[in-house]
Amino acid sequence: MKQLAVVILLVLVNYAAPQSLTIAESLLNILQEGIVHTNKEPRDEPIVRSEYDFIVVGAGSAGCVIANRLTEVPEWSVLLIEAGREENFVMDVPIVVNYLQFTDANWKYKTEPSGTSCLGHTNGQCNFPRGKVIGGSSVLNYMIYTRGNRRDYDNWRAMGNDGWSYDDVLPYFKKSEDSNINGMLTDVGYHSKGGYLSVSNIPYHTTLADAFIQAGLETGSKIVDYNGKTQTGFSYLQVTMKNGTRWSSSRAYLHPAGNRKNLHVKKFSLVTKILIDPKTKTAYGVEFENKRTTYRVTARREVIVSAGAINAPQLLMLSGLGPRDHLKDLKIPVVEDLKVGYNLMDHIALGGLTFLCNASSLNVNDILDNSQNFVDYFQYRRGPFSVPGGCEALAYYDMKNPDAVDGYPDMELLFQGGSIVSDPTLRRNFGIDDALYNKVYKRIENEDTWMVLPMLLLPKSKGRIMLKDKNPKHKPLIYPNYYAVKDDMDTMIAGIKKTIELSKTNAMRKIGSRLHEVKIPACARFQFGSDDYWECAARHLTFTIYHQTGTCKMGPKTDPDAVVDPRLRVYGIRNLRVIDASIMPEIPNAHTNAPVYMIAEKGSDMIKEDWGKPTNSFFRGKR
Ligand SMILES: Cc1cc2nc3c(=O)[nH]c(=O)nc-3n(C[C@H](O)[C@H](O)[C@H](O)COP(=O)(O)OP(=O)(O)OC[C@H]3O[C@@H](n4cnc5c(N)ncnc54)[C@H](O)[C@@H]3O)c2cc1C
Ligand SMILES: *[C@@H]1O[C@H](CO)[C@@H](O)[C@H](O)[C@H]1NC(C)=O
Ligand SMILES: *[C@@H]1O[C@H](CO)[C@@H](O)[C@H](O)[C@H]1NC(C)=O
Repeated sequence: MKQLAVVILLVLVNYAAPQSLTIAESLLNILQEGIVHTNKEPRDEPIVRSEYDFIVVGAGSAGCVIANRLTEVPEWSVLLIEAGREENFVMDVPIVVNYLQFTDANWKYKTEPSGTSCLGHTNGQCNFPRGKVIGGSSVLNYMIYTRGNRRDYDNWRAMGNDGWSYDDVLPYFKKSEDSNINGMLTDVGYHSKGGYLSVSNIPYHTTLADAFIQAGLETGSKIVDYNGKTQTGFSYLQVTMKNGTRWSSSRAYLHPAGNRKNLHVKKFSLVTKILIDPKTKTAYGVEFENKRTTYRVTARREVIVSAGAINAPQLLMLSGLGPRDHLKDLKIPVVEDLKVGYNLMDHIALGGLTFLCNASSLNVNDILDNSQNFVDYFQYRRGPFSVPGGCEALAYYDMKNPDAVDGYPDMELLFQGGSIVSDPTLRRNFGIDDALYNKVYKRIENEDTWMVLPMLLLPKSKGRIMLKDKNPKHKPLIYPNYYAVKDDMDTMIAGIKKTIELSKTNAMRKIGSRLHEVKIPACARFQFGSDDYWECAARHLTFTIYHQTGTCKMGPKTDPDAVVDPRLRVYGIRNLRVIDASIMPEIPNAHTNAPVYMIAEKGSDMIKEDWGKPTNSFFRGKR
């Protein structure tokens, strides 16, 4: 948080004199908002009880939903345990998103060096940020709201997961949503008002983004509601914001439940073990550490792990649930032999596909330096401060069936009204090697630029998470295994070429777009623009789009790789569920936050059903 405070203070110090009145008013607004925010987040429970009905591990996207929904039942008590700190209202200002990864609200994971990807990153390692804060990764994320394709979920169902077809899950996407989209196409029947999660348009966009949308129309694509009937086409982003402010899972789901007597929240508390009776194979509580004291708390009904796709498999394995050989190697007593940590999936893009132009791009330093932007945002919630990082628009393509009107997109072109030179923090977010950056990008730091992240939506390569040892404070080992399957690289190259094609449209020429054609030094032996060159580039600048999923796979009894059943119960263990991004059997072709909300809403209903409680779908409980 120090860096953020510094940024805000710099702006104030620089501009307080000429516009002191307006700035003073804005500052008052900020302070007021800060106080309101702090009062609404449930307090850190000073003394936890020894027993609750449910214990939820992790207050992230999923955990906040579950804590809210379970405490709708007045006679149930819930303890929500979070390793990280409280959320801060400054975290909810969209433009500062890139800065959050440098704070203590990030777990700061790194992948193991592979020799085949992340080669242009420091030590050949990709950074994997994850939220360590009330709200979890929904506090660090870029707020892009995408649900995926109907085929994603119909495929989950076809894999044997009863209850997870598109028709089954659409009501849960809608249940979570409070649509506040203005001035954008929305398909009838796919959106709803009144859920907890505000979804809206970004109140500001650049002329660059307009040109990108025009480029789509010029090449015969349509503007679509990508969360509606068909997905293939172009759109400005739908985002999880309300009135220009980040709508994290904490703001959406925890604040409204903050006053419920049956909800206790414990912050700064690392769950180190799920307590399981090895004879009856029943989970009966957790062990957690807070300020060097170890606590044991019992769950009368269930323990629910919502620690995210990296920490959930870690916690399961620490508790003796995992691959027998691996646990034996680490001298962890095996409670149940399960394929925990396998099936790791993610979305990656070629980073650094940069175009020069002559229309003004989003330069984060300039934006933060401009007092009018500051006032616009803190008084009226509009202007460039409301753009998440630099993300503005996207296009979906089915590269294998380019002419299909209702294709199954395997490529997303994520448009940014700036590039890695527009924000000094961005290259550090990804950990790009300094020498590479200086050689290729430093020379265009003062230029206007835009960038597309061509993102592989349906990767076939799968990785794995393993424990380093049995110390719960040690970070797990992460092997993403990017580009292991050749088809993934072919699709990536097709996406890169599609982007370059779009840069040559009239709309893009009008803003003077031209590809930045400086070679990455390690790829110098290839001809710029050849397939070999792009493959080399993609293996060097391997940008995660942060969608780690799948490490506690959901599947039917007949699936030897399944860790949880279609009701999200861990196989072989009673009273234990996993409900978060790790249960996805296949990654949907979506940014994963909206699917996680859907999973958590559905999982909460399953818990209520299994314990004989009504699942009144729009009941919001007391405020
Ligand atoms: C930088 C970034 C940008 C992203 N951008 C987007 C985007 O624009 N759109 C989108 O849809 N998705 C985006 N995502 C992905 C999306 O946010 C995640 O898929 C989603 O938040 C995952 O939810 P979850 O509940 O599975 O895990 P999380 O939200 O990560 O929650 C897990 C929580 O559990 C806590 N925890 C973990 N282990 C323990 C333990 N042992 N004890 C106690 N607490 C523990 C963590 O601190 C955390 O708060 C982004 C993610 C990141 C990191
Ligand atoms: C958005 O926030 C601003 C600043 O607090 C406020 O003036 C405005 O009324 C809000 N708009 C909506 C639609 O809530
Ligand atoms: C931007 O470049 C285009 C194409 O080169 C040119 O036609 C246009 O006049 C330029 N605009 C500005 C503002 O320089």
